[in-house]
Amino acid sequence: MIPMRDSFRTRLGFILAAAGSAVGLGNIWGFPTQVANHGGAAFLMVYLVVVVILAIPALYTELSIGHQAQANPVAALGKLAQRPHRVGAGLGKSVGLLNVGGAVLMLSFYHIIAGWMLAHALGSLALAMQWPEAHLALTTSSLWRDLVFVAVFLVGTGTIVVRGVSNGIEVWSRRLMPLLVVLLVVLIGYIAMQPGAGAGFARYLQPSFAGFSDPNLVVAAMGQAFFSLSIGLGGMMIYGSYLDRNANIGQLAVSVAALDTLIAFLAGLLIIPALYVAMGQGMQVSENGQLIGEAQLIFNVLPELFERMGAAGPWLGFFFFMLLSIAALTSTISLAEVPIAYLLESRQHSRRRATTLVIAVIAVFALALVIWFVPLFAWTVAYVTKFQLPLSGLFYFIVLGWLWSRSNKLKEKAREQWRFRLLFWHLRLVCPLLLLWVFVDVAFAG
Ligand code: TRP
Repeated sequence: MIPMRDSFRTRLGFILAAAGSAVGLGNIWGFPTQVANHGGAAFLMVYLVVVVILAIPALYTELSIGHQAQANPVAALGKLAQRPHRVGAGLGKSVGLLNVGGAVLMLSFYHIIAGWMLAHALGSLALAMQWPEAHLALTTSSLWRDLVFVAVFLVGTGTIVVRGVSNGIEVWSRRLMPLLVVLLVVLIGYIAMQPGAGAGFARYLQPSFAGFSDPNLVVAAMGQAFFSLSIGLGGMMIYGSYLDRNANIGQLAVSVAALDTLIAFLAGLLIIPALYVAMGQGMQVSENGQLIGEAQLIFNVLPELFERMGAAGPWLGFFFFMLLSIAALTSTISLAEVPIAYLLESRQHSRRRATTLVIAVIAVFALALVIWFVPLFAWTVAYVTKFQLPLSGLFYFIVLGWLWSRSNKLKEKAREQWRFRLLFWHLRLVCPLLLLWVFVDVAFAG
């Protein structure tokens, strides 16, 4: 007898888990950095348009493939890429395997960054407890610190996914996502009351046409939206496969994208004003006319700002880095489910064995990345984000639009109603072309 597949118990549970997958370092770190680097409000406006015309369709496509196949990405893509029969199936399976490998690579570097966040959270806590030696050890980068925290974070990911979909992923998403929103709102409230925050709100929210002259604006927004919605590694596909047959994928995709975009928007309301508060205190927050982004923003500028805020400072630091750690954890569990579900269903491992194996492999890769950080880390990030995500996303569109012939609901509806016909052609033609543009631009120009 085939054992019953695990699944999400409730619609809300799915929405929180999928939003948890989407809301990650990309929202709280990546999005505000992009806003800062691309002219403030201009980026925000273009981003919103891009989410609607490209990212939501891509999310819908990835979820639909998983939902229809009720299987892991290797099996799902093999099953649905039916045209021409053998070639399509083989190609589908290969892309599925590429997704499994890509998820493992992404998990390796994502766990390293997540480990830094957790170390900084505990470092801030040590400061609040007036234990300066621990604070220093936890916030200074070192080989042992990185290794210890990768291990701690891996244990966290493993402990949740080993319990399965409804008892692990769903239960923890329900706990962590509300906590994340509370932390974010408290931090925004506190920063908003500091002198100088007003100028930051203005920079973020008042459209300035100067920003639109940036030639990279649109491609940057598309790349960010794709990453932020977790498209292209099978993370959403596997969650879609755990939805029951009657789920309305269109509606769910819109809800998840709306939540993800809301959190990214809120993160901007926190970080951009915080940069202006720091500027008001005489700290250097821009270089060559650009606001500071990336690692320097998170690990230097903001901690220094918190330190200047007296007794509340260490707690602000703690909340801030906990926020990032939680955001990372709900993303690592969805990524980890991709290789685990593959081992479980296609290789007949038990969930416990599959989890142990996957966590062990990630640990080895992460170890290599920490030890040979300089040559390997940036290359791995670039491979996954610049090649794997857009190319897999492109393939998903091709599957839905061209290769998937039997029981393709959208295709069937497109025959009857012009609204769906329009949507179908949008997914078939416009979206792949947009993605191809991102891919060519990012891979060959940047
Ligand atoms: N969306 C996540 C973030 O914003 C990162 C991410 C990209 C991801 N692709 C994924 C997470 C696939 C899970 C699955 O940080």
